[in-house]
Amino acid sequence: MSSSDFIVFGSPQIEREEIDEVVRCLESGWIGTGPRVAQFETEFAAYKHVRQAAAVGSCTAALHLSVLAAGIGPGDEVITTPLTFCATINAIVHAGATPVLADVNPLTMNIDPTEVENRITSKTRAILPVHFAGRSCHMDALTAIADRYGLRLVEDCAHAIETKYHGRAAGTFGDFGCFSFYATKNVTTGEGGMVLTRSEDDLARIKMLALHGMTKDAWKRFSDEGYKHYYVVETGFKCNMMDLQAALGIHQLRRVESNWKRRQEIWNRYDSAFAYLPVKTPAKPEPETRHAYHLYTLLIDEDRGGISRDNFLEEMTRRGIGVGVHYLSIPEHPAYQEQFGWRPEDYPHAMRIGRQTVSLPLSAKLTGEEVARVIEAVRGTISAKSKEQRAKNKAASTKGCGARGSRQTATPQESLGL
Ligand SMILES: Cc1ncc(COP(=O)(O)O)c(C=O)c1O
Repeated sequence: MSSSDFIVFGSPQIEREEIDEVVRCLESGWIGTGPRVAQFETEFAAYKHVRQAAAVGSCTAALHLSVLAAGIGPGDEVITTPLTFCATINAIVHAGATPVLADVNPLTMNIDPTEVENRITSKTRAILPVHFAGRSCHMDALTAIADRYGLRLVEDCAHAIETKYHGRAAGTFGDFGCFSFYATKNVTTGEGGMVLTRSEDDLARIKMLALHGMTKDAWKRFSDEGYKHYYVVETGFKCNMMDLQAALGIHQLRRVESNWKRRQEIWNRYDSAFAYLPVKTPAKPEPETRHAYHLYTLLIDEDRGGISRDNFLEEMTRRGIGVGVHYLSIPEHPAYQEQFGWRPEDYPHAMRIGRQTVSLPLSAKLTGEEVARVIEAVRGTISAKSKEQRAKNKAASTKGCGARGSRQTATPQESLGL
């Protein structure tokens, strides 16, 4: 297999429109934050049916600035999920607050509202749910808890651009909704992020913090309107989005719905292809919700599938399929164990998922033939290994209980010759 046959996990679909827009941006002489960022903000807000949005350099920055703008800092606790990317935790820590983990529901893989409520203390100031893989969290329950205890709600929508819950868009339930346009995301600007806020004051503070804490519209200081003085009103950060990035985002956003449909087709093909394999496929999307189909994850249980998750990752790579892990649970990482004393076994659902999960390629760019190759690789890997496993199980049961251990009926996998 040549390296060009390797299916890169999360490879973005970049079309002529984006490339031409980037070239026009380069030729315009204005590549930093400017009119294309403003256009992208307006169009993203319109897509989400809200009035305003602030583009920033990443979702990590979006989360960090949102926690700060929520007025959260040292001495405060923020409840979040152990099944997320480290950026969710780091954003809370860099704001000076303390993250507190609440385990996930084993089926939806989203933060469990009952666990959230159990973790509330007098120091709790906010809940930070992640719409994992593009599946909406239980927003009725989470908003009810936030209202009851007077907590802020910051939604991590890194996977959830197209997600809806009871007809309402993810990122519009909380005080802040934070989106990612990282290279593997459903809409990409290479690196990039966006914040939705309900309050104009919060939005203005985020924009100001994203550009060193300089007064509003400081990015216009070199424009043809003449030099503008600016003032630093707060010690801010440098995480503004560039026009070069927005040039990609504007055109990516125009294809968000057609790409969503394509990923839904791939998702459904995977669901039917793996239905009878001894692996766990994602739970069906809940009624009255819209899944963003960002990650298609299989759970590989060695006792059933005859192969460990890590060997499965290796075998898929050997067969030319790029795979991902989303995610080892947060308490598996040494930095957090040292800082917070977290232990994986205290969050058993997140721990098990993190040790069994594998994400398959789901980019809208995949051709039908590539999807077939992914399916073939999964089937080939699992069926070979599960045959060995069944033989082992059979030998063990024959040894242990003689002829009584044998079965008369075939499992669905066996009927398929797997
Ligand atoms: C759940 C989650 N939160 C936050 C982030 C951070 O996003 P970014 O890379 O845009 O900073 C990611 C990125 O993968 C993510 O998956």
